[in-house]
Amino acid sequence: MNEYIKNRRSIRKYNPEKKVTKEQLNQLLEAAMLSPSACNSRPWEFIAVTNRDTLDEIVRIHPYAQMCKTASAAIIVIASPQTGIPEGYFAQDCAAATENILIEAVSLGLGACWCGVFPKEERIGPFRESFKIAEPKIPFNVIAVGYPDEAPEARGFFDEAKVTYIE
Ligand SMILES: Cc1cc2nc3c(=O)[nH]c(=O)nc-3n(C[C@H](O)[C@H](O)[C@H](O)COP(=O)(O)O)c2cc1C
Repeated sequence: MNEYIKNRRSIRKYNPEKKVTKEQLNQLLEAAMLSPSACNSRPWEFIAVTNRDTLDEIVRIHPYAQMCKTASAAIIVIASPQTGIPEGYFAQDCAAATENILIEAVSLGLGACWCGVFPKEERIGPFRESFKIAEPKIPFNVIAVGYPDEAPEARGFFDEAKVTYIE
C-alpha cells in the first residue's frame, strides 16, 4: 500500500508559524494538473492563497473551513465546465485533481483538508463574490494547506462488504 495514501488524514489544526512556500504550492498544483480528466479536458483553474486576510475571508464565508485560521495556505479549485463533449464530467475531473493535491501534500510533510463548495449554492455564491468567479466557472472546493499541528491516526480500512467480485 502507498504510504501517503494510507497515512493521509484531513488536518484541521496547523502550525501557523511554519509557512507553506510558493515552491511547495506549485508542486501541489503540478500534482493536480497531472491528474486524469475526461478527454484530457483539464476543466480546472486554481487560486493559490497565502495572504492572511484572504485566508480569513475564507474562514468568514465557509462555515466548515475554520481550519484556515491556522493554515498558512489554501487552494481554491475552480471548475470550468465544458460546453461540448465531455460535458458533465467536471466534478469527477476536479475531484481527481483535489485528491492528487491531498496525497502530494502528505509526501511534502504538509497537511491538507478538502472543504466542499460545489454543489451547495449557499457556499458557491459567497465564493463567486469574494473571488470574482463568474459563470460559467464554478467554485468547486477550497483546500486548506499547512504544517500539521495534530497527527490523527490513519483510519481508512478495507471493507470487503463494499465489493462485488465477479470472477
Ligand atoms: C467532498 C468533500 C467535502 C468535504 N468538506 C469538508 C468541509 O467542508 N470541512 C471539513 O472540515 N472537512 C470536509 N471534508 C473532509 C471529510 O470530512 C473527511 O475526508 C472525512 O471525514 C474522512 O476523514 P479523513 O479525510 O481524515 O480520512 C470533505 C471531504 C470531501 C471528500
